[in-house]
Amino acid sequence: MSSVLTLNNVGIQFGGLKAVDNINLEIKKGELFGLIGPNGAGKTTCFNMITGVYKPTEGEIKLNGEVINGVSPHKLVEKGISRTFQNIRLFGYMSVLDNVRVAQNDEIKYSIFDGMFRTKKFWKEEYAGVTRAMEILKIFDLDKFKNFSANALSYGDQRKLEIARAMATNPSILLLDEPAAGMNPQETEELMNTIRLIRDKFNITILLIEHDMKLVLGICERIMVLNYGRVLAQGNPREVIEDPKVIEAYLGGHNA
Ligand SMILES: Nc1ncnc2c1ncn2[C@@H]1O[C@H](COP(=O)(O)OP(=O)(O)O)[C@@H](O)[C@H]1O
Ligand SMILES: [Mg+2]
Repeated sequence: MSSVLTLNNVGIQFGGLKAVDNINLEIKKGELFGLIGPNGAGKTTCFNMITGVYKPTEGEIKLNGEVINGVSPHKLVEKGISRTFQNIRLFGYMSVLDNVRVAQNDEIKYSIFDGMFRTKKFWKEEYAGVTRAMEILKIFDLDKFKNFSANALSYGDQRKLEIARAMATNPSILLLDEPAAGMNPQETEELMNTIRLIRDKFNITILLIEHDMKLVLGICERIMVLNYGRVLAQGNPREVIEDPKVIEAYLGGHNA
C-alpha cells in the first residue's frame, strides 16, 4: 500500500524552544491513525505543520510523495487535506446545510456567467452540491437539522457538523483534532463509530488526535504517542499500551 502522508525528521522551533522534534511517521492509504499524548505534547502543532499553518523548521512533510513544506493551507485543501480544530469553528448564524455548502466552494464547477444568469449548468451543479451536502449530513444524522442555525445545535452535534464540513471538500486525508472533546461517553462512542464509518464509506485516510487514550485504542489501527514534542512510542494499540514508557509517562504509572 502506498504512503499518503510521510514525516521525515520533522521539527519546529518557536523562539529558542523546540515544540516538536524529530518526528518520523508514515501513514498508508485508508489507515485510521491515532496521535495521542498529554496536553502540550505537540499534537496540534503537528497538525498545524501538516496543514500548512506552520512551516517546519526541520525535516520534510510529503503528501503522496510530494514535499509540501511551506505550501499554503488553502492549496493543501485543494490537494486533499482537510481538518477540524480543537475548538469549534462553525459559522454560528448560518444554517447547518450552508455550513457544509460553503466548504464545497472549490468543488463547484459553474462560471460567474452561469451563476448570474442561472443557467441549466448552474442549477445542475447547485443540485449536485446540495445532494452531496445532504448525503454527508445524513451520515452524521444531522440532515434533519439542515435549516437550523449551527449554534442552535447541541454541543455534540456541533462537533459532528465540523467533521461533516471538513468532509465537504472531498479530502483524501482527514485530520481530526480532539473531535470528542467535551462529549459524554455515549456521544463519544457514537462519534467513534461514525469516524470509522466515514473512513470505510469514502475510503479516506484519517489522522485522529485524541487526549483520551482508551478512545483511540478502540478504533485506531496504529498509534503514535508524543511526549514533550518527541515520539515516545509507535505501533499497534496493544504494543503501545503495553510499552512501559507509555505507562510511565502518559498514564502516570496507572494502566488505563
Ligand atoms: N505559535 C506558537 N508559539 C509558541 N509556542 C507554541 C506555539 N504553538 C504551540 N506552541 C507550544 O508548543 C507546545 C505544544 O503545543 P500543542 O501542539 O498545542 O500541544 P497539544 O496539542 O499536544 O496539547 C506547547 O508548549 C505550546 O506552548
Ligand atoms: Mg492540542
